[in-house]
Amino acid sequence: MTITARASLAGVIGWPVAHSRSPLLHGTWLKRHGIDGAYLPLPIRPEDFAVCVAALARMGFVGANVTIPHKEAAFALCDEVAPSARRAGAVNTLVFRDGRMVGSNTDGVGFMANLRAHGVDPAAGPALVLGAGGAARPIGAALLDAGVVVHFCNRTEDRAARLAATIGGGVIGWEDRAAALGDHALVINTTSLGMAGHQSLTLDLARAPAGLAVADIVYVPLETPLLAAARARGLRAVEGLGMLLHQAVPGFAAWFGVTPVVDEALYRVVAGDL
Ligand code: ATR
Repeated sequence: MTITARASLAGVIGWPVAHSRSPLLHGTWLKRHGIDGAYLPLPIRPEDFAVCVAALARMGFVGANVTIPHKEAAFALCDEVAPSARRAGAVNTLVFRDGRMVGSNTDGVGFMANLRAHGVDPAAGPALVLGAGGAARPIGAALLDAGVVVHFCNRTEDRAARLAATIGGGVIGWEDRAAALGDHALVINTTSLGMAGHQSLTLDLARAPAGLAVADIVYVPLETPLLAAARARGLRAVEGLGMLLHQAVPGFAAWFGVTPVVDEALYRVVAGDL
């Protein structure tokens, strides 16, 4: 798409960044809304992060997304952080405004919006969060803040205990994950297990209650072995790509002044690039 000299500029900062679907996603929205703007991949090394972010702001960028490995560094660098970022301990969305850098974290709202888009009510009952890493925290915090009872279950139990001590929630032992399903309405894989090139998550769904919803944050492949097993048992399955699409909405709205929609057409465009 053509842009003019007045174009609004944003992008995604990561290292590496070539695998990111965000330029395609935001580019699709920019085109759809006929916005004079661009969203660029911004490969920036960890040691250059602070100086490059400051430069982007000085160059008139409206903001940026921040991805691995910069989310904690972005948190430390912001002039102002939204409660979502404080709860997540990380920033994934920067807005440059009046010479200030404002950070937020949209992973939690993106996760919740994706659940609702799949007809899953997060408040239906307790949630079992598998994992205690970078993705578990914003997701767990969003569920807790919505009044949901949350249990963290991680291979390294210490890490789950530390996370629960920081944001709230309880802890369930990793070996007890299958047995615990009966006490939960929702189970979420926030680990890297099931991702292409990684091991699969072993979770015996034999004792899962019929109403259990199974969500995965992994979206390569779109249908992880966990989601396939859930569907085979007639359980509701919520795939991770929707979270990626929904978490992008607040940033786009802040930078370009239009609240975009997540629909089938967008899903197909991004899924087609996986
Ligand atoms: P990220 O920040 O990208 O989430 P991370 O913080 O290292 O990366 O988190 C990865 C998550 O996947 C962790 O919960 C990790 O469990 P540990 O804390 O025990 O390392 C989980 N994970 C990775 N490989 C795993 C495996 N083979 N079995 C069980 N859990 C695994």
